Amino acid sequence: LIYTNAVFFGKIHSSSSYAPGQEFLENNIRVKPDLDALGALGDAGWYCIGAILWAMNQTLPTTVTALPNVARNSAGVILTCSASLYWEKEETVATFYCSFIAHETMDLRVYGSNGTCYLYDFIIPFGEDSASFNFTSGAKFVDLHIGWNVKPQVVEVTSQLPQEGYMIQEFANLVKAIKVSRSKPESKWPHTSRITQLMLDAVNKSIDTGFQPVHM
Ligand SMILES: *[C@@H]1O[C@H](CO)[C@@H](O)[C@H](O)[C@H]1NC(C)=O
Ligand SMILES: *[C@@H]1O[C@H](CO)[C@@H](O)[C@H](O)[C@H]1NC(C)=O
Ligand SMILES: *[C@@H]1O[C@H](CO)[C@@H](O)[C@H](O)[C@H]1NC(C)=O
Ligand SMILES: *[C@@H]1O[C@H](CO)[C@@H](O)[C@H](O)[C@H]1NC(C)=O
Repeated sequence: LIYTNAVFFGKIHSSSSYAPGQEFLENNIRVKPDLDALGALGDAGWYCIGAILWAMNQTLPTTVTALPNVARNSAGVILTCSASLYWEKEETVATFYCSFIAHETMDLRVYGSNGTCYLYDFIIPFGEDSASFNFTSGAKFVDLHIGWNVKPQVVEVTSQLPQEGYMIQEFANLVKAIKVSRSKPESKWPHTSRITQLMLDAVNKSIDTGFQPVHM
């Protein structure tokens, strides 16, 4: 491919991990073949894929390819995995990592052609009433490459309610619109859930076919 400056060459990375311990790894509903059979992918990986799809405006990638660092429990349920996702038209790659056997992470990093955005706590914020992300744009090395001309800008977003409050508010408003205003159910959330699940299934399929790309 010859770079023409006409397309967006981006990269996204997301990670969701925690280490709840041995008892969880054998007995929790999230690691039971007849309950959440997708394990860490179905639980922690859901957030990574959701964040990546948010950054890509809910468009399906062209291909999904799992990466080789897979760990399973004795029942064969995934405890750790990674994958790369590729959007051909946007020339964008995303990778994610999800795990039940690694230290807590909740990262989303978006590397664009003209700026970067880092979030460290996008699932459960460090604090309930505000969250922040780091944004950098227009950065260059200063003379002699001994530093940068700009530092990341910390963007703080405050909230009146904990995020669960906003979720319930949103759900109540959707129900109210149907009951009171006789609106059609809105399509954004079902679409988002469906394509997230399609991507989880594609990662699982790629793992089971020896890390072959799955075309979406
Ligand atoms: C994961 O993929 C395998 C092989 O394609 C399939 O048999 C299994 O049912 C899938 N697991 C889930 C939970 O969908
Ligand atoms: C995101 O997707 C929606 C729905 O397909 C579309 O209307 C909107 O223009 C898109 N936004 C961007 C920034 O591409
Ligand atoms: C790139 O970032 C710089 C600095 O923030 C800004 O002035 C410029 O408008 C941006 N260019 C584009 C194409 O967004
Ligand atoms: C975010 O940016 C600020 C200001 O440049 C910096 O002090 C801080 O270390 C950054 N946060 C992280 C987690 O890198």
